[in-house]
Amino acid sequence: MSTPTLSLIPIPARVTPRPGAFALAASTPIEAPDALRAQAELLRDQLRPATGFPLRIVTNASGPRIALVLDEALARLGDEGYRLTASADAVAIAAARPAGLLHGTQTLRQLLPPAIFRRAVVPNVAWSVPGIEIEDAPRFSWRGSHLDVGRHFMPKTTVIKHIDLLALHKLNVFHWHLTEVGAWRKDSMVAPRTREASQRKFSGSPHAGFYTQDDVREVVRYAMDRGITVVPEIEMPGHALAAIAAYPELGNTKAQHEVQTYWGISEHVFGVGDNVLTFVENVLDEVLALFPSKFIHIGGDECPKREWKESPAAQARMKELGLRDEEELQSWFVTRIDTWLAKRGRRLIGWDEILEGGLAPGATVMSWRGENGGIAAAKAGHDVVMAPEKPTYFDHDQSEDQVVPIRGMNTLADVYAYEPVPKELNAAEAKHVLGAQGQLWTEYMPDPQRMEYMAWPRLSALSEVLWSPRETRDAANFAQRLETHLERLRILDVNFYRPRR
Ligand code: ACM
Repeated sequence: MSTPTLSLIPIPARVTPRPGAFALAASTPIEAPDALRAQAELLRDQLRPATGFPLRIVTNASGPRIALVLDEALARLGDEGYRLTASADAVAIAAARPAGLLHGTQTLRQLLPPAIFRRAVVPNVAWSVPGIEIEDAPRFSWRGSHLDVGRHFMPKTTVIKHIDLLALHKLNVFHWHLTEVGAWRKDSMVAPRTREASQRKFSGSPHAGFYTQDDVREVVRYAMDRGITVVPEIEMPGHALAAIAAYPELGNTKAQHEVQTYWGISEHVFGVGDNVLTFVENVLDEVLALFPSKFIHIGGDECPKREWKESPAAQARMKELGLRDEEELQSWFVTRIDTWLAKRGRRLIGWDEILEGGLAPGATVMSWRGENGGIAAAKAGHDVVMAPEKPTYFDHDQSEDQVVPIRGMNTLADVYAYEPVPKELNAAEAKHVLGAQGQLWTEYMPDPQRMEYMAWPRLSALSEVLWSPRETRDAANFAQRLETHLERLRILDVNFYRPRR
């Protein structure tokens, strides 16, 4: 299929050109049943600023219209699939579920001239939609963007803007790496400020910030209204120094630690006493109340075992449980949380270190140290989300002229060429690959501008990898469509990296 002139990203599964075109006018109504009122209002609010058209919402229209339709027959396209048809008479977006309709409305925005993304009236534009029939559904159910707001805090407005951009790309999971902030709790468990000079080298600029519980509710609801699930990450038993600094009794020694001011892995990890499990479960209670996501990310990565080796309490725990080594102790910890989450109807997901010492029965693995963890988990019948450093870590350079102090380079072409299903998996095992996601670790992204520069357009490329059928993947065609797409991003004030042709 070659439809470069349409410049849709991600490219739909099936596109058939039709004669004619639909002319959006001031008198055009949006026809929608009451059940789709919210989706209709969202579409109206998206089309109104640049056109200036009032776009009334009605349940029954005569004459040219935009129609939103719930159609159970389209259940064959899944929860997120949709059909969009445009002719001189109407643009009709039909889907079995609201999520599909939302994706259809994003396609409609991209079918209009890029000026549709402006936030004030643009005169003298023909707001025309080409005659077309599109049937579309995603290849993967997990199409994610991870954002670390612990290393450098990102304000709520930045998070909201990011969510809008994910929706534009039909990405549907926002993995919010909250650890080391923690301050969205009412009685903030961390103080993410640097108070003392350190011997270590670091930028010297303080960074701090927090979200209130109401901020979190706002973001979660905002995302949900746009078809995006927010998956929170609360790290344990490693990467937990912020909590241990606030509550030393959660650690393995009596030492009082400072909140970490340097990047990397801390030796200081959670202890394994009942008090720690109770604390973690209390935190997770609050997390579950705020995040309706089925999946809850518990981190699980980079947990050094030295303190457990030296701690009489940890060694006694291992003996009591009959565990052979500290890897099994980590596995026991994670399994406790897995069981706790399962009892509450949720599912545990963690970085691939959770495989070490034995995978908890209900766990889903996020494979970051390459794909081996994901392959092993899928072969053992566990679900997997692919997040390998190559090429989904977007904190790595994307061109020769960047000098990010993190080794390796992941170019736009690398991302576009990525295949989330490893060839080591047979068809049944491959079904366990839920999808993939791009990682934005913010050690070297001090502000939203830098974060956007690293994210875009690599996330645009990844959106096509995850949404579009494998057969439609065509790098040259993508590069052509990207030209128009970058104009959209420019209008949206996204500080993207401009790839060389
Ligand atoms: C990770 O990069 N430690 C998941």
